[in-house]
Amino acid sequence: MGSHLTPRPPSYARVSLAVMMTGREANLLGNIHGGEIVKLADSTAGAIAQRHTDGPAVTAALDEMVFLRPVAVGDIVRTIGQVNWAGRSSMEIGVRVEAQPWNDPSESGLHVASASFVFVAIDADGRPRPIPSLSPETPEDHRRLREAEIRRANRLARKSEIEAGRLELP
Ligand SMILES: CC(C)(COP(=O)(O)OP(=O)(O)OC[C@H]1O[C@@H](n2cnc3c(N)ncnc32)[C@H](O)[C@@H]1OP(=O)(O)O)[C@@H](O)C(=O)NCCC(=O)NCCS
Repeated sequence: MGSHLTPRPPSYARVSLAVMMTGREANLLGNIHGGEIVKLADSTAGAIAQRHTDGPAVTAALDEMVFLRPVAVGDIVRTIGQVNWAGRSSMEIGVRVEAQPWNDPSESGLHVASASFVFVAIDADGRPRPIPSLSPETPEDHRRLREAEIRRANRLARKSEIEAGRLELP
């Protein structure tokens, strides 16, 4: 049956992007600006969200963005991402970023950053729309799902605690 809400495995929407970093993306220290890495990871996650949900989706939140090592001008930066968790209209997408010197194939890609994005699928009026659920296949998929559920619970708890605190303000 080909319903557009048929559950999909993470492998269905997996996306990888690769870009060579140039001086245009450098910061004042001569390394690559962190915002460039965020943009690349966000673009990767956007393509994944579009594929998983067959339509438009927007970035709702970004957390757990960690920068592990600097990226140099001339590095080939590669992202790889997949849906970790899917709810009613929102999904968590994990993106891993690796870098490899453009001219040295003996160097394997180094893990330079990772991030968790929340994307929300929207309809033509910009309102959240239902999305296919996630059907994890591998032990790794199940691990990502379990960890994404912990992050979602923390996000929601943090949000409601902050909102409750604001209500108590004079
Ligand atoms: C994202 C957006 C569509 C959510 O709209 P909303 O009216 O708040 O939607 P809801 O409260 O019904 O929440 C919809 C879903 O998003 C989730 N969600 C919304 N904000 C969230 C956040 N900050 N963190 C985690 N999840 C979030 C909700 O938990 C819900 O998930 P579910 O449907 O899977 O249960 C809306 O806030 C928006 O358009 N934001 C701007 C997005 C954008 O332009 N991004 C580009 C960056 S410039």
